[in-house]
Amino acid sequence: MLERINQITSEINNYTFQSSDDIEKFRLKYLSKKGIISSLFEQFKSVPNEHKKQLGKSLNILKQLAKSIYDTQKSLFDNRNDVSTDIDLTLPSESLLLGSRHPVSIIRNQIISIFSKIGFNVEEGPEIEDDWHVFSGLNFPPEHPARDMQDTFFIRENPDIILRTHTSSVQVRVMENIKPPVRSLFPGRVFRNEAISARAHCIFHQVEGLYIDKNVSFSDLKQTLLFFAREMFGEQTQIRLRPSFFPFTEPSAEMDVSCTICSGRGCNVCKYTGFLEILGCGMVDPSVLSASSIDPAIYTGFAFGMGIERIAMLKYRINDLRLYFENDIRFLRQFQSDL
Ligand code: DAH
Repeated sequence: MLERINQITSEINNYTFQSSDDIEKFRLKYLSKKGIISSLFEQFKSVPNEHKKQLGKSLNILKQLAKSIYDTQKSLFDNRNDVSTDIDLTLPSESLLLGSRHPVSIIRNQIISIFSKIGFNVEEGPEIEDDWHVFSGLNFPPEHPARDMQDTFFIRENPDIILRTHTSSVQVRVMENIKPPVRSLFPGRVFRNEAISARAHCIFHQVEGLYIDKNVSFSDLKQTLLFFAREMFGEQTQIRLRPSFFPFTEPSAEMDVSCTICSGRGCNVCKYTGFLEILGCGMVDPSVLSASSIDPAIYTGFAFGMGIERIAMLKYRINDLRLYFENDIRFLRQFQSDL
């Protein structure tokens, strides 16, 4: 009988459990009432007394072993079937990295939102333009240097089809198509054949403004731009208009704002002048109105144009234009905005 006990011991030690069915088979074979261990206990009754002590001990050890193998395997399989112990569905998921808006988009949206408060809507025009809308319709004489190959990108050999060098081209499109009053902004991408550096790029963005109605005056222009400057750069901002020249406005001016860094006291950003140039503007030249069939005897208007990258540089203290185009997420991630 001892031999039998030893044989069963090694059998159960080597028993392989592949599924929960095997556990049940194991129980039926060894631990149930009709199982091997119970039948050994039956046989034990008829063992001579002098062997009872040793055999009883061995038999009890076998029973304990079978029971503990059974319990261990059962709890292992129970846990394995319970998927939630491997994957904890209550843990928070990994957070997604949220993108941020490009600073040029943020500033463009801010400009649009500021001017929309005083009734400006948004219009757009094509980036690939003809000479009329970019130059001739805006009073640029044929020999004007801005038409030069150095500045303008031409499409194929056709000198009439070009990439717009400024968003002022949309002024002409709008004046051709919309009857005054016009009170619109034209944001968009412009192209100039420039060598790329920290201060110049061949692609950049502008926002153009155009207001045409009866009795529009230079003081309307000034007040509109003062409102814009204070909304954009803060309540304390001062503006300064300097006489200038553009073919499509008369009179023309360039507008400076008090330095956003030193508030006008003088620093190296404003080159100790206290002011920073931000846009060009003026009263729409009567010949530009007539070229688009608007009667300058009835209507007057003002226009202005600004570079979005330039405004963003002043607001965010960015010192290299190339950063806008490199898509380095370490740069882009720094800009968070609701707009
Ligand atoms: N188009 C000019 C440029 O690209 C900017 C400009 C100046 C636009 C005066 C205007 C304006 O509407 O009135 O430099």
